[in-house]
Amino acid sequence: MPDNNNNLRVMTIISAILMLSLPVLEACAVEVASPDGLITYAVDRDEQGRPHYNIRYADEMVVHESGLGLRFQNHVEFGQSLQQTNVERSSSDSAWEQPWGERRIVRDNYNELLVGFSSIDGPERHFNLRVRVYDDGVGFRYEVPKQAYYDDVAIVDELTEFRVPQDAVAYWIPGRGWNRYEYLYRTTPVGELSLAHTPVTMRMASGTHVSIHEAALVNYAAFMLDQRRPGVLQTNLVPRSDGLRVRTQTPFVTPWRTIQISPDAVGLLNSDLILNLNEPNALGDVSWIEPGKYVGIWWAMHIGRRTWGSGEKHGATTSETKRYIDFAAEYGFDGVLVEGWNTGWDGDWFNNGAIFSFTEAYPDFDLQAVTDYARDNGVRLTGHHETSGHITNYEAQMSAAYDLYESLGVRQIKTGYVADGGQMQRLDAHGVMHYEWHDSQIAVNHFEYVLKEAAKRKISINTHEPVKATGLRRTYPNWISREGARGQEYNAAWAPPNPPEHNVLLTYTRLLGGPMDFTPGIFDLLHQGPDSVYRVQSTLIHQLALYVVLYSPIQMVADLPENYARYPDAFQFIVDVPTDWEESVAVAGSAGDYVVFARKERGGHDWYLGAITDEEPRAIRVPLSFLGGDQVYLATIYRDGAEADWDKNPYDHVIETSAIDRDQTLELRLAAGGGAAIRFRPKPEAGQQ
Ligand code: NOJ
Ligand code: CA
Repeated sequence: MPDNNNNLRVMTIISAILMLSLPVLEACAVEVASPDGLITYAVDRDEQGRPHYNIRYADEMVVHESGLGLRFQNHVEFGQSLQQTNVERSSSDSAWEQPWGERRIVRDNYNELLVGFSSIDGPERHFNLRVRVYDDGVGFRYEVPKQAYYDDVAIVDELTEFRVPQDAVAYWIPGRGWNRYEYLYRTTPVGELSLAHTPVTMRMASGTHVSIHEAALVNYAAFMLDQRRPGVLQTNLVPRSDGLRVRTQTPFVTPWRTIQISPDAVGLLNSDLILNLNEPNALGDVSWIEPGKYVGIWWAMHIGRRTWGSGEKHGATTSETKRYIDFAAEYGFDGVLVEGWNTGWDGDWFNNGAIFSFTEAYPDFDLQAVTDYARDNGVRLTGHHETSGHITNYEAQMSAAYDLYESLGVRQIKTGYVADGGQMQRLDAHGVMHYEWHDSQIAVNHFEYVLKEAAKRKISINTHEPVKATGLRRTYPNWISREGARGQEYNAAWAPPNPPEHNVLLTYTRLLGGPMDFTPGIFDLLHQGPDSVYRVQSTLIHQLALYVVLYSPIQMVADLPENYARYPDAFQFIVDVPTDWEESVAVAGSAGDYVVFARKERGGHDWYLGAITDEEPRAIRVPLSFLGGDQVYLATIYRDGAEADWDKNPYDHVIETSAIDRDQTLELRLAAGGGAAIRFRPKPEAGQQ
């Protein structure tokens, strides 16, 4: 049951299509509700013919009357002097299968409304607003058909607003800064939010939670949320270097503007809205895409033991790579990432975008020998391409670079776009350099081009310094992971570390967009010594829990092999934990405070649970009803010891096993900056092993 174009919507449960085409409707609100009736999206227009909408959740207005429209450089805008023309309605309830993911089967159940708008005066113009309302939120987008006066168009502004209560609490990071999306999350009243990167998550006074984001960002600019007037958040599209926001032709559709809605914080984490609003798999057979765990010559550079560049501390040597391959083979890890293998890293590599080679190795790194050695040991090399944001240099070498990796059996490439925000480099045919944002239309199209070229060689891409995640992994399942927030690397020696609440906040914000290559599993938490501020602000057990909490189909086992040897008992959890899931359930949590996920392995019977807390120690009760059935499980519980505390005693831990079933409630005590990680195995019947 692959999710592809040949075989769309295979697991249709019920599918009822009700199409109504009505004649011109004059200024009366048109509504569409979610299948469970709780969410209602209403569209209307004012006396000037300006379209607007609102969203209600039960009796609560979660988005008050908010504007809609597009503004063009040389064409009359789609924002006023408009009338509603036709209204179409439909409903759909189907399910589709993910090739990999946090759950195998995804239900796609919505009611749809399409409202046509056309001009009252001025040049003739039309567009449609398509709205899908699910039980977990709303998506809406503009669809602009081909029409006489609109052919090539340049969008200079999008007028979509989200008018939310100013006293709602927002969890957000600033948008369009020099450090892209790598900022610490802020928790403020909405009224204090300025240009913000999405997802932006909010808690209303009632306890209702919403998260504003976008889905299916293709051939368009990403948007920031800009507080134009108090409480009025407007889409602010990322500009191209030519000052325009989007250049396109009719017909076109915009990405979906999404609002996930839930009565509590945890509900947001169980939403499939973003994936459901993306197009099905466009790659056909994707059985070559391989979730799994990888180790790498990576953390050693971040903590200053090795260098990317050549010289006596060079990390990417043939012998060091073989050592990591041996380590991966011994513990059944799938990949070995090697950074700094290719020429171009010497000197200030942040500024080496123009000189990186993606095919030429340093002399002390024998690419053929290491890929042969990896293959002989049942492991794959994970490729690496740091571009320093020079997309022209990368695109020029892309075919040769991907062909090379394909010929050597490399199936995954981690890419990097280290460059300040707005400083991606694009050289035009006249030799003029243009500076682009990582989430501009130019970058969006570059990232899609990478995926298509990689897919031709059965290669998956893990993008660092990417564009935001908007669910395109459904259409291109070879977009296997990405960074796009402050990851573990901030706990190395080159930046102030992430505070304990950061990992919790990631789940309620960044990860709503999709998987993150956070790179968990640092065991040497005090890697610069006990007096350094550069350390990992978590307990050891918190590092284990991250494998379950921060979803990614590829997870790095990020520390140096020798550091795992210090805690072989805790390391066993990392050896055992899968990265591909049959089902996932966010069980408990509170935005910014703590979070608990349970996931069932794909192709097996085991469940895993991960819980993490912020700087507050807390005792939590976790009902085990997710286990289902009357099976008894043996739970191996990895928990913080009684004295554990991220600051004073991060290594204190206990591992114990007990028999457990779905009727029980676990009481877990999480230390400050701590967590819990559990493997549940079905208990063999008496007499069985
Ligand atoms: C940034 C990535 O996030 C990091 O993981 C990598 O080591 C450096 N770029 C070098 O490519
Ligand atoms: Ca990074």
